[in-house]
Amino acid sequence: MRNYNISIIKGDGIGPEIVDEAIKVLDTVSGACDFTLDYKEYLMGGIAIDETGVPLPPETVPGVLASDACLFGAIGGEKWDNLPRELRPESGLLKLREELGVYANLRPAIVYDELVNASTLKPEVIQGCDIMVVRELIGGIYFGQPRANDGNKAYNTMVYTKDEIIRIGKQAFEFAMKRDKRLCSVDKANVLEVSQLWRDTMIELSKDYPEVELTHMYVDNAAMQLVRNPKQFDVIVTGNIFGDILSDTASMVVGSIGLLPSASSGDKTAVYEPIHGSAPDIAGQGIANPIATIESAAMMLRYSLGEEKAADMITNAIKNVLKDGYRTKDLSSFDAKEVLSTTEMGSVIAEYSVK
Ligand code: NAD
Ligand code: IPM
Ligand code: MN
Repeated sequence: MRNYNISIIKGDGIGPEIVDEAIKVLDTVSGACDFTLDYKEYLMGGIAIDETGVPLPPETVPGVLASDACLFGAIGGEKWDNLPRELRPESGLLKLREELGVYANLRPAIVYDELVNASTLKPEVIQGCDIMVVRELIGGIYFGQPRANDGNKAYNTMVYTKDEIIRIGKQAFEFAMKRDKRLCSVDKANVLEVSQLWRDTMIELSKDYPEVELTHMYVDNAAMQLVRNPKQFDVIVTGNIFGDILSDTASMVVGSIGLLPSASSGDKTAVYEPIHGSAPDIAGQGIANPIATIESAAMMLRYSLGEEKAADMITNAIKNVLKDGYRTKDLSSFDAKEVLSTTEMGSVIAEYSVK
């Protein structure tokens, strides 16, 4: 029997609520597909600060590195917002990403036919939309030095080396080759030197991928185009901060940020996480949408464990549950037959995955 070790980081806010539902679904499909998953929980974020004094306790990185894959919920909350930056929950997450070297953050935004009325955009604008945002995750302005804030002057540095751009660019071209062979590189090359290097490097790389149609777009236009006509995009490749913003934008093409999963990968253990945060405004109410996290678990089965069949079972279950009109509160005004709590949604998806 195949057995995998999974590290679990639940985090803060709705994190524990949504991760528990993903585990419920994983246990159901693994049972049906003859493999087992052993989970080990690690602390990160606000809960880690409360329990250990730091956002990324020393056991967490080695624990994740020793596992086959990591499933992560979300971190953060107002309670910790006034701590010094290096002690904030977000710094724990950034350090984890850096230490694991997960430079490629894949954020698929796929419009479910069943939810075509759920977007704030018109159905004809979004139907059939299938975008893969490839976001660089361990460089750019998030990590650039120098950075400081002395109360009178504050600055950050947006920096990319050519090697970092080549590394993420290759991933994006490879994805484009497996899809519709259209890659849009998003930058701000009309203003920023770092974006000029980004653009020049993408053009250089494109010579190795003659079948892929490479286009370029400034990030301000890209944000507008995502809302105007999202179907023009196949794969988008962009830097850390632009990818953060554009993927939240793309989530509203799909209908709710509670639907968008992601995979953060590099050369070591990969992390699977919803793109949303800890949603403090709805935490503890049992109304969070667990689908983004459950779909992240499906990506984990597909990309890290090679358990394609189990991954398909989850993805199909999500589609069928939506088709049958089950909705969490975020989507309750769109063709809902029944509005479910977070745990009920997890249970229905688990049930459908083996039906
Ligand atoms: P957020 O993504 O947590 O929430 C934005 C809005 O979307 C809120 O109204 C929230 O209720 C809603 N939402 C998010 N996930 C949902 C879900 N699964 N189901 C239903 N509704 C959902 O972003 P924010 O409010 O800007 O940030 C809150 C905290 O989360 C901050 O501390 C931030 O730093 C942190 N954060 C963490 C991550 C992460 O852990 N990866 C990502 C983004 C933000
Ligand atoms: C995300 C989040 C994080 C990011 C924050 C919490 C550090 O917004 O995962 O999208 O900006 O990468
Ligand atoms: Mn974000």
